Amino acid sequence: MSNNLTIILVFCSILLYGIFALYSCAQEPFVQGKRIYEVNCGNCHMSDGHGLGDMYPDITKSDYFTSKKTDLICLIRHGKKGSVMESVIMPANKELTEVGINNLVNYLNYTWGDGSISKLDDVKTALANCQKD
Ligand code: HEC
Repeated sequence: MSNNLTIILVFCSILLYGIFALYSCAQEPFVQGKRIYEVNCGNCHMSDGHGLGDMYPDITKSDYFTSKKTDLICLIRHGKKGSVMESVIMPANKELTEVGINNLVNYLNYTWGDGSISKLDDVKTALANCQKD
């Protein structure tokens, strides 16, 4: 009798563990990158990335998340003068850490890009080689 109870207990524990593991996997990855996006980028490009009319570009199909990933890192750090309207700029983000930028880039690639994983070393190398203007 007590043997059966043990088996049932072990079975339940495994079941609970499985449910927990599944639940953890279903959570959205890159939570920190998402938070940084919402604080530093979402005001202009909006949570869904579609931007705001002619002022702030839609970034959901941007090639910065596929073929221009090195430029993306410099764009985040140093911003960009508006090419359409001079008064509309993309601001620099001097306060973001390299780890923060890496998390942000991973969130962006996962959400709107090719899903590739950025490594901290990629961020460091890119930042060291940004074109200054
Ligand atoms: C104050 C508004 C503002 C904020 C905040 C902002 N951006 Fe921008 N962003 C712009 C503007 C304006 C442009 C267009 C610059 C130009 O004229 O080329 C732009 C361009 C871009 C582009 C290039 C789009 C393309 O394909 O040409 C990307 C990618 C981008 N922003 C990502 C970000 C990310 C990531 C953040 C947060 C770190 C951010 N932006 C924060 C205004 C903003």
